[in-house]
Amino acid sequence: MQSFSAEVTESARLYGETHVLWFRRDSALSAITPGQFVMAYCGEGADPLLGRALSIHRLRRTDAGDEWALLFDIVGRGTEWLGRRREGDVVRMVGPLGRGFEPRTRVQRMLLIGGGIGCAPLIWLADQLVDEGREVTLVLGGRSEAQIFPPNLLPPAVEVVVTTEDGSTGERGRVTAPFERLLPWCDQAFTCGPEPMFGALHDVARRSGLRKPVQALLEARMACGIGICYSCAVFPARGGVKLVCSDGPMFDLRDLY
Ligand code: FES
Repeated sequence: MQSFSAEVTESARLYGETHVLWFRRDSALSAITPGQFVMAYCGEGADPLLGRALSIHRLRRTDAGDEWALLFDIVGRGTEWLGRRREGDVVRMVGPLGRGFEPRTRVQRMLLIGGGIGCAPLIWLADQLVDEGREVTLVLGGRSEAQIFPPNLLPPAVEVVVTTEDGSTGERGRVTAPFERLLPWCDQAFTCGPEPMFGALHDVARRSGLRKPVQALLEARMACGIGICYSCAVFPARGGVKLVCSDGPMFDLRDLY
């Protein structure tokens, strides 16, 4: 983990209120895995003081060199500032942080479930799993079409299922329905999204009796990102306390509920 300055190479509103920022890849991010995050310090000087914890969204190689991206919704002062960054601007970052996804070796069928902006780290995971020759189905869920990551920006080998609560695109309903259908098919599942979605997925997995491994990437308000402040503490049903920033953000769903 290091503090570094990330230079913006591209800034775009990708869909709805969701923005993508691409950065030149710094040596601080030479060894990273999907699911890890950075603390992005949004603003000039010390205002706002705290960073925003954002998952690394994707990697790419261009003629100018290697780049990495953040995908985020504009939801407040910090992300608004971030969304106004343009090519050549610099953002102070600390990272890489946390424990990312851990795909099992020698398994083939991977099921990825993203709720809203929770799709951000799953896109990179999908890229990587397809590169490794695995079968990938990605379920993208949102309230409406405006919250759905454009499927045409995914590798063609990724099977995409879309659900929206208002039925504006894909299946009407929530991600739990395709999760229930596809759970028997998959060898391992990965998910990221709002906390209530994890509870619903856990219920489906438990009722199925299949005991398939499901790794969940938790989101939490983080002040330090490095295990000092306890602002990101969660309390698993079996007792104890876990810190999302340093014990996670990846947890086995069964260890939480
Ligand atoms: S954000 Fe400070 S302990 Fe996790």
